[in-house]
Amino acid sequence: MSEIGTNAKTAVGLTTTQAPFIEQAKMLGEMYIEQPYELYSEENHQAWAALYERILPRWHKYAHPRFLEGVEKLSLDPHAVPRLEDINRFLKPLTGFSARAVSGYIPAYRFFDSIRQRVFPTTITIRDKSKLDYLPEPDIFHDVSGHVPMHTDQRFADVLVRFGEVARAAAHLVAEISDKTEQLQQLNSIIKAMARFFWFTVEFGLMRNGNDLCVYGSGILSSFGELEYSIESPEVQRFPFQIEWVINQYFEIDHYQPLLFIVDSFDHLFDQVDELERLMLRGELNNVSPGEPLVNEEDLKSFLEADISA
Ligand SMILES: [Fe+2]
Repeated sequence: MSEIGTNAKTAVGLTTTQAPFIEQAKMLGEMYIEQPYELYSEENHQAWAALYERILPRWHKYAHPRFLEGVEKLSLDPHAVPRLEDINRFLKPLTGFSARAVSGYIPAYRFFDSIRQRVFPTTITIRDKSKLDYLPEPDIFHDVSGHVPMHTDQRFADVLVRFGEVARAAAHLVAEISDKTEQLQQLNSIIKAMARFFWFTVEFGLMRNGNDLCVYGSGILSSFGELEYSIESPEVQRFPFQIEWVINQYFEIDHYQPLLFIVDSFDHLFDQVDELERLMLRGELNNVSPGEPLVNEEDLKSFLEADISA
């Protein structure tokens, strides 16, 4: 490697938004990639170690017991960015799930269909060591330490697969609509409803745990500050999960969530995914309230071009 190359590696490694390896993959349209482990810089590993050390006591205090078991089962290294192949060696025999490296954003249908097939698209970059707290993009700390421990639980894994099946049912449903304007309008609304459901459960869900609450949502589980805030702050509104509310509730991604929903159990959550499909088939996702999240062209296209033949 040239001196310039070595310096570039030391400086940026696989840091979020700064990694030439990732930018190049995106430019070439490569969605699924390898994890070039040797490209992680010393700073990248230090960022992982700092994030992990800081959050561990809060996991013990606020995380769902199954999440904590998952962390144990995966044998995550507290000191270094994990290798996905190591993670998968532990994970796959448990639930059939695996983590697969991606270069960035995955359009909605491809993401949901991937989890239906028990493959979790996983970001491999890591946030800058000097900015541990706020990051609008997902990174490997969010994806691996926030999401993947939950994938060791059979029932939670079933929930994800079931959610992927609903996406597939949605692709079938809209394929039947001949009027293009109506098709796009309905699809836009269905994707919005699905994204809100996913957000208020898989990403930001709370669950009853005896008389207490615990966190199973990965957005909270990967945030040192929000872990405590979500459970302790009097500023957070916490309500029993009500699906009609959830699918009509906008959310914003750039601050701590002021509103969270509580499910009773993973069985309860699974039933709610069933209910999501029932509502969709009855046409009740066709006109949900406007607002965040915005559905982009790529998301719409991914559903319209979905391979639903098999
Ligand atoms: Fe996430």
